[in-house]
Amino acid sequence: MRPVALLQVALCLACGCHGYRDYQDELPNGGRVAHPCKDNALWHGVGHLNVQGGGARNVFGLDFADAGRKWTRELCQKDSDGDGKTNGQELGDPQCTWTKGGIPESTSGITHPGVCDPYDSEKCQNTAVPPSPGVTYATQAQWMKEACVQAEFECPALESSDVKQLDLRMPLTPVPQQETTYMCMTFQWPDVTKDFHVIATEPIINNSYIMHHMLLFGCADDFAVSAEPSECGMGGCPDLLGAWSLGVTGQCFHTGAGVLMGQTGYKRLMIQSHWNNPQLHAHFNDSSGMRLHYTSELRANNMAMLMTGQNYIQIPPRSPDTLATSDCSSTCTNNLMTGDIHITSAANHMHYLGTAMNLELHRNGRFLMNLTNDVIYDYDTPKFYEYTEPVVIHPGDMIRTNCHFASLDKATTTFEGDATSDEMCYGFLTFFPRENLKKLKCTSWRGLSGCDPPTEGGCDTEARQIFFKPAFNQTELYKNLTSVCKPFGPCTTECNTALRQAMQSEPCFRNPDSLLLIKWYLLQLTEAGRNFLGAMATCELQLYKDCLAATDTADDIVCRNVAGGHTMTNGTDDSGNDGTGGALALQSTSLLTLLGLMVGTLYHALS
Ligand SMILES: *[C@@H]1O[C@H](CO)[C@@H](O)[C@H](O)[C@H]1NC(C)=O
Ligand SMILES: *[C@@H]1O[C@H](CO)[C@@H](O)[C@H](O)[C@H]1NC(C)=O
Ligand SMILES: *[C@@H]1O[C@H](CO)[C@@H](O)[C@H](O)[C@H]1NC(C)=O
Ligand SMILES: *[C@@H]1O[C@H](CO)[C@@H](O)[C@H](O)[C@H]1NC(C)=O
Ligand SMILES: *[C@@H]1O[C@H](CO)[C@@H](O)[C@H](O)[C@H]1NC(C)=O
Ligand SMILES: *[C@@H]1O[C@H](CO)[C@@H](O)[C@H](O)[C@H]1NC(C)=O
Repeated sequence: MRPVALLQVALCLACGCHGYRDYQDELPNGGRVAHPCKDNALWHGVGHLNVQGGGARNVFGLDFADAGRKWTRELCQKDSDGDGKTNGQELGDPQCTWTKGGIPESTSGITHPGVCDPYDSEKCQNTAVPPSPGVTYATQAQWMKEACVQAEFECPALESSDVKQLDLRMPLTPVPQQETTYMCMTFQWPDVTKDFHVIATEPIINNSYIMHHMLLFGCADDFAVSAEPSECGMGGCPDLLGAWSLGVTGQCFHTGAGVLMGQTGYKRLMIQSHWNNPQLHAHFNDSSGMRLHYTSELRANNMAMLMTGQNYIQIPPRSPDTLATSDCSSTCTNNLMTGDIHITSAANHMHYLGTAMNLELHRNGRFLMNLTNDVIYDYDTPKFYEYTEPVVIHPGDMIRTNCHFASLDKATTTFEGDATSDEMCYGFLTFFPRENLKKLKCTSWRGLSGCDPPTEGGCDTEARQIFFKPAFNQTELYKNLTSVCKPFGPCTTECNTALRQAMQSEPCFRNPDSLLLIKWYLLQLTEAGRNFLGAMATCELQLYKDCLAATDTADDIVCRNVAGGHTMTNGTDDSGNDGTGGALALQSTSLLTLLGLMVGTLYHALS
């Protein structure tokens, strides 16, 4: 069970650059400096010749050291790289007013104060690089030549003559003027008269300026094939088979397994592409996709990817460390797995606030090993932990996903979401055999997960479905509440009683996480849902006040719930799940948040 060289390289990188994030905090937008020649990527070690930091300094690094490693007015007004823009202008502090911990005047379009721009102009090419021991380049042209080189994809198995290629690309498609766009396109596998194994994937990047990540999914046999891509959310085809994100050259699957395609395998595949266009450029087009390498000489096993993680993230502003965690519990693995699975590679996924992340494997209630461990997480250079000797997971084992976030220079709360400015907390585990896992997802939403036993009172994923359907307006619960509550008030005695009764009698309302999840869906899915939320909101505040006034509310389920279940503080929740459903450590939330939630509800219900 030894991860191969990649892991060691990854860890060495992490040790070598330890501490650079401390200096990032000393500079305005220190963590947002764009790489001069890699679209969509950041230059982390702003003062260094090496993109990851550590080692010899660049011109800006020398000036920063001279200034006592602080953002002084003089350093801000200086133009270290001599490209005509001051360091302050490059780092989003043109007035030189920023102080440590503050929010800079501008937080986008941050350029490198130590690289003369445009980096390939004649003047900049000849700019001298300060000499240091071990540094072999003298000019910026030589330095950038090394910094701009793209790594090459290596996969020895592709040299075999039976391996063929299939390119799945979308036609040239206009990119909308919005920050985040998800596009999906479904393809038919060309030959379904026999079986094949896909053994590697490579990205085909057409517009590198906006291409952010791609996921490859297996679809049901009758899922509609599309002639052109269309905007989509997460969802559609359920089985995650492959992934690409910035900094990855491709996936070379373990020699013991491949993705089964064709006669008895997947017949349709979907590629979901994430376009990131934060500058809202118009007139961009893209025709990216994936190259699949496949063979009819089948390998020993079929493979797929298991996704773990937390679907609910709330990172308060200016916080040095927020932990989101989720357990794929022992109950879950017992329910989902029909036999052992063998992990051949593992990877972490968060966005730019992510600082550290690990995936833990537990057995018999004890920590066994880390499947991944990014001590310093870097979004732009994701690490794949490859296991030539696969790690075996038994039914009953537990997989814990831990994500750490820092938001010191962010003034607003960050939530889970698809946009790059939102956050995510997911682990991806490539495994075989595919047949031993019933579902390829083991994630949670706060303390709830799809595979754990029902929460207190007998509510499970299945039971929650009724709230999400238009027919919800036929239920007694709906009729009871909406017949006596006028949306958003006034809170009459009948409404108050009806709400109390609903909270007490409906099993899915007895667990605070469950109630919150239902509300979240009610807002978005159906008109009946919004009506119902409006009816609830009528007396929720009154109930909350009643609970504040009451002396002993510890055992009062209604009082527990009107607080929205915002009582989690240190990794366990109060939902009776004893953490096995995926506990989430959050800062405890105050009345203000509750009111915010209600105002939010009001706003959505009206719009
Ligand atoms: C992107 O795709 C279009 C259409 O196939 C092609 O004309 C263009 O050259 C491609 N651009 C890049 C950078 O590959
Ligand atoms: C994108 O495609 C549109 C329509 O075909 C074209 O007008 C536009 O010039 C293209 N943009 C670029 C940057 O090539
Ligand atoms: C697992 O990862 C955690 C978090 O980085 C770390 O504290 C712990 O020491 C690691 N354990 C092992 C055995 O590597
Ligand atoms: C329930 O909603 C449907 C539309 O989704 C509507 O046609 C129907 O009349 C509603 N029934 C009640 C009792 O409000
Ligand atoms: C609806 O209201 C009636 C009368 O108050 C009550 O008996 C019943 O239990 C309520 N049903 C639900 C699902 O709350
Ligand atoms: C923190 O967690 C422990 C169990 O791990 C629990 O006993 C304790 O009450 C919790 N503290 C708070 C403040 O919730």
